[in-house]
Amino acid sequence: MLKRLLPILIAVALVGCKNQQLKQTEVGSGKFAVNKQVEAKVDSLLSLMTLEEKIGQLNQLSGNGEVTGPISFPAEYMEALRKGLVGSMLNINGAAYTYKVQKVAVEESRLHIPLIFGYDVIHGYKTIFPIPLGEAASWDMEAIEKSARVAAIEASAAGQHWTFAPMVDIARDPRWGRVMEGAGEDPFFGSAVARARVKGFQGSKLSDTSSIAACAKHFVAYGAAQAGRDYNTVDISERTLYEVYLPPFKSALDAGVVTFMSSFNELNGIPVTGNKAMVNDLLKEKWGFNGFVDSDWGSIREMIYHGYAANEYEAGYLAMSSGVDMDLEGRIYLAQLKKLVEDGRITVEQLDEAVRRILRVKFELGLFDNPYKGCDSIREKELLLNPRHLEIAREVTRKSLVLLKNENVLPLSRNIRSIAVVGPLADNQDELIGTWSGRGEGKHVVSVLSGIREKLPNGNIYYAKGCEIVGENKAGFDEAINAARKADAVVVVVGESAMMSGEALSRAFLDLPGVQKDLVMELNALHKPLVVVVMNGRPLTIEWMDKAVPAILEAWLPGTMGGLAIADVLFGDYNPSGKLPMSFPRNVGQIPIFYYQKSTGRPPRQEERYTSKYIDSPVSPLYPFGYGLSYTTFEYSNLSISSPSIKMDETLKVSVDVRNSGKYDGEEVVQLYVRDMVGSVTRPIRELKGFKKIFIKSGESARVEFSLTSNDLAFYNQNMEYIAEPGDFMLFIGGNSDASLGLGFRLEE
Ligand code: BGC
Repeated sequence: MLKRLLPILIAVALVGCKNQQLKQTEVGSGKFAVNKQVEAKVDSLLSLMTLEEKIGQLNQLSGNGEVTGPISFPAEYMEALRKGLVGSMLNINGAAYTYKVQKVAVEESRLHIPLIFGYDVIHGYKTIFPIPLGEAASWDMEAIEKSARVAAIEASAAGQHWTFAPMVDIARDPRWGRVMEGAGEDPFFGSAVARARVKGFQGSKLSDTSSIAACAKHFVAYGAAQAGRDYNTVDISERTLYEVYLPPFKSALDAGVVTFMSSFNELNGIPVTGNKAMVNDLLKEKWGFNGFVDSDWGSIREMIYHGYAANEYEAGYLAMSSGVDMDLEGRIYLAQLKKLVEDGRITVEQLDEAVRRILRVKFELGLFDNPYKGCDSIREKELLLNPRHLEIAREVTRKSLVLLKNENVLPLSRNIRSIAVVGPLADNQDELIGTWSGRGEGKHVVSVLSGIREKLPNGNIYYAKGCEIVGENKAGFDEAINAARKADAVVVVVGESAMMSGEALSRAFLDLPGVQKDLVMELNALHKPLVVVVMNGRPLTIEWMDKAVPAILEAWLPGTMGGLAIADVLFGDYNPSGKLPMSFPRNVGQIPIFYYQKSTGRPPRQEERYTSKYIDSPVSPLYPFGYGLSYTTFEYSNLSISSPSIKMDETLKVSVDVRNSGKYDGEEVVQLYVRDMVGSVTRPIRELKGFKKIFIKSGESARVEFSLTSNDLAFYNQNMEYIAEPGDFMLFIGGNSDASLGLGFRLEE
């Protein structure tokens, strides 16, 4: 192996690099920085590369994700690897398989440059955590970071170096199937989650065995697809782009993320994959991003279908000259770049710059020191589904559950004599892991029924499916109703299947699919204590449910430990603490709906005719952003500020008493919102500016403090300068975005 790396080492020596030991860049705590020694090595390597080998580094091919052995690895791929025509592969899974493929790249290619293996490790690799939207509902950044860490540990043991996560797209339209992959509707909150996920994946040092490169995607504004239809046109103002869609990307960058993915969508007429202003000028030059940008799957070619590039040659030109460094399964760079360089359309310097960025990340990952980093069949066996990982997944999953309604039904008593567990998702394993579930398998999932059985080993549990998730068949209703009749309490588990949210899975209706609503209503008519556990990848329109049933627990698609975590909450072993990261609409007509609204000149007043409202629906959501109940109650009082006004360089201290006035110990997410009363540009009526998740024992109080500076009050003015304007502000503190406890203060010149 060392012998094979000789040309590289000699080249490094030639450029006078004294220290052969790479000094690794610290990640997680700051922007990915360029390291001189690494740069020298990259330059040396570049000087040895042919034009074809350089282009090869920009080429990313997909293996067959379903196959775990090298047998089916296409011979043409092997040939391409030997010729140095592939820089990265995705969807090659498992230590043994990645090892074999890597061996060809590093031992049989002329320059022995290691491949970087990428994979969609979105909410776990083998131990599957709740879908990212669910995990975000924990509002617990430590838990989110831990989940990403576990995913990185497992993925790295299976030979992966890079995850296409986190997806940091703000999503305000629950029809869009990919809302399940992100952190919801708010830029401040989304930025915090982005940071936690990047830190979790990349660890404290990129070269560590269990660190994998993260990828902030999809750059940018992919979540603003018109009508929530995936891949659809995005047409938003520059202000909305800067205020809402860009901040989580900036946050990922500041946390040290080493790759970005350019999105499929056009943005105001220009597909982002060929948008120089966004990718090159903003991300790379203005923000100073030093890592590399991957295209999305085939998004370079898709510029032809957008009607933006005339042919593959032009598409390659547009992507390359916009700063997209790697071509994900598009093969456009492979086919067109040589000619583009020979024609002088793309300069060698431009090409070198893209290659440099990719090699830089490979060096920083430590792949030149050990191309098989982390990949070890023994480690893989030991770490995948490791009991400690399952324990962490259970903890994180409990935190992700949101109690939407509870009229004295929950928690259930362990002394309950009998319970009916019904519904199409009650004894289900496969759906609970959701989409983008890595190498997760339904057979490892604990169903809700099993979780409940564990709590009531001697209890009478009556199970009936009732109906399927989809379809009109009600033949199973009688059995379900009979089960419920015999029981003292009913848990009904309904919702969406895994394949109803995720990529290319937009929905026009957000009802419970099939006849599940009828099942819930018929069970509810028995007037027994009844809990609906809802599983879904997005907010659903469940106003009817809220009106009818006494208790609702939002469980998202909860992952491997779903059933145990849900049972923990149902029986009070964990007091629910999740809060919604996305508003739940009452009906599809209200969409897009989010708390961060403008006042308008005619703020909504239902009773007044000429105001901004609907005549057939309230304006308010069913459940607002930040909402979620607990088995206990929290009371807020004594809101105070350090001064009625602050100057531009001063800090306002905000504090409030939060008392746990109920019977259970519990956690509360204390949220701080701000409103700028008058601006040179109108401001939203609420903007989240801080949150803290705290544990308070029953009967006790905590004083919770926040700090606000003028930077927290800044926005883009009419000239798109980010500034804070002097004037009056209101702040609100409470347990959701409707918080009413407020105070005014002034920002002085
Ligand atoms: C998705 C990306 C994903 C990529 C690779 C694309 O279709 O949009 O989010 O990372 O495929 O699997």
